[in-house]
Amino acid sequence: MSKNIVVLSGSPRKGGNTDMLAAAFIEGAESAGNYVTLFRTADMRIGGCLGCGHCFKEKGVCVQKDDMPQILDALRKADALVLASPIYYWSVTAQLKSAVDRMYPLISVKTPIQRAAMLLTCGNKNEDVNEGAVFMLNRLCGAYGWDNAGVVTAAGLHEKGEIAGRAELDKARALGGTI
Ligand SMILES: Cc1cc2nc3c(=O)[nH]c(=O)nc-3n(C[C@H](O)[C@H](O)[C@H](O)COP(=O)(O)O)c2cc1C
Repeated sequence: MSKNIVVLSGSPRKGGNTDMLAAAFIEGAESAGNYVTLFRTADMRIGGCLGCGHCFKEKGVCVQKDDMPQILDALRKADALVLASPIYYWSVTAQLKSAVDRMYPLISVKTPIQRAAMLLTCGNKNEDVNEGAVFMLNRLCGAYGWDNAGVVTAAGLHEKGEIAGRAELDKARALGGTI
């Protein structure tokens, strides 16, 4: 059965390694008959969570008037969520983290999401640098009751587009086909 998949991508570098990894995932997912909505969070106006609790009292409505409702609306119709990011200082980018923080109302406003996955690129050759981001994914899955559908990491990348031809693109395509 086809699924609605939301991809939140955190890279500010257009056409970079993370965009290419996300594109491979999307190609695999769409080839398998799924519908994918991609949000490049770095191109959107998404303020950091203010911690005011307004969204809890007002059925998910935030006091900030920015682009986040587009993402929340898509998540309310999604079967799966994919977080894609370059590693910035042992974590996902601030642009993606802001969007994740603003998913706070989903604790009380339920979604059909059952599965989540992660796509990461990093400069270091040592995969340890991904631990913080993967920890966040696992804890999100635990908190929201999602299955972890898989993580694809690509290490040792610095230049824009350096990921071209790498096996991780095939892994992301395959994950798209099975999620
Ligand atoms: C501000 C900044 C911080 C970074 N921090 C790390 C890091 O902590 N560990 C690492 O392995 N790579 C780090 N990198 C490298 C990127 O994760 C890597 O080059 C990635 O492939 C860039 O993805 P992009 O092409 O989508 O921009 C950093 C890059 C930038 C610009």
